[in-house]
Amino acid sequence: MPEQAHRLSSKHLLGIKDLNTKDIELILETADTFKDVINRPIKKVPSLRDITIANIFFENSTRTKLSFELAQKRLSADVINFAASSSSVSKGETLIDTVNNILSMKVDMVVMRHPYAGAGVFLSKHINAQIVNAGDGAHEHPTQALLDAFSIKEKYGDVAGKKVVIVGDILHSRVALSNILCLQKLGAEVKVCGPTTLIPKYIHTLGVKVEHNLRKALNWCDVANMLRIQLERQDIKYFPSLREYSMMYGLNKQILDSLDKEITIMHPGPINRGVEITSDVADSKQSIILDQVENGVAVRMAVLYLLASQKQ
Ligand code: CP
Repeated sequence: MPEQAHRLSSKHLLGIKDLNTKDIELILETADTFKDVINRPIKKVPSLRDITIANIFFENSTRTKLSFELAQKRLSADVINFAASSSSVSKGETLIDTVNNILSMKVDMVVMRHPYAGAGVFLSKHINAQIVNAGDGAHEHPTQALLDAFSIKEKYGDVAGKKVVIVGDILHSRVALSNILCLQKLGAEVKVCGPTTLIPKYIHTLGVKVEHNLRKALNWCDVANMLRIQLERQDIKYFPSLREYSMMYGLNKQILDSLDKEITIMHPGPINRGVEITSDVADSKQSIILDQVENGVAVRMAVLYLLASQKQ
């Protein structure tokens, strides 16, 4: 690995808000090196040979969980996996007791997904291990934002100056907040687009403009990040029906082809095909959705490597 000119300014990765621009640039540069590594015939390096990492997931995940596990294995870490649904949490064990029991098995780092905002911050105040937030409620999903920024940089050469619109359920999205903070720190301009009921009232305090008209938003941007409607986090009805939402804010090929310029389509997954995006858009040559997934492994390798380097 290259000589580290800069170390991360935080012991944990709890949110993009704790990272400065230099931290983010260091993670993206390190991820570049790891992307080369995972495309070699021998995809493994010994960097985290002496490190044990616990992936503890209190919420379902496909991409993030597998991507972290693969990143850890590519770095030669020892890995244990914990899913709340099949654990003693169902018998009433608390978060701190659960994690302290895992840590007593000599674990160095915890990667945690939790349905409650601030769960990672709470845990960091009660345990000694380093913590990586793999998504906490509707708050932050820092590694998703980092891999999204990496994917934009890979596509355009730079994030600075790019116009990115995030479309959909901004109110319940941890991806939206982390993306806004990350892209702005890298010099991109960010707008959000969606129905008024799904845009948080505080959005203007983040320096983000709101565009309610999908076509106008798409004609403005270089990149559109299409978000899923998070029905599991909605306790009341925010729009009349999914069909009406899709008519107003769903991206289909007809709209895409009618725009003034060719834009790039992103989606953090999981996709609800036919709701926020049609299959012919998700699978089009303008879509970099699977590149995002591929880049997630390299970015997570970079995060784990840089956090582990702080202990040396
Ligand atoms: N993007 C994302 O967080 O996907 P998963 O919920 O499948 O991990």
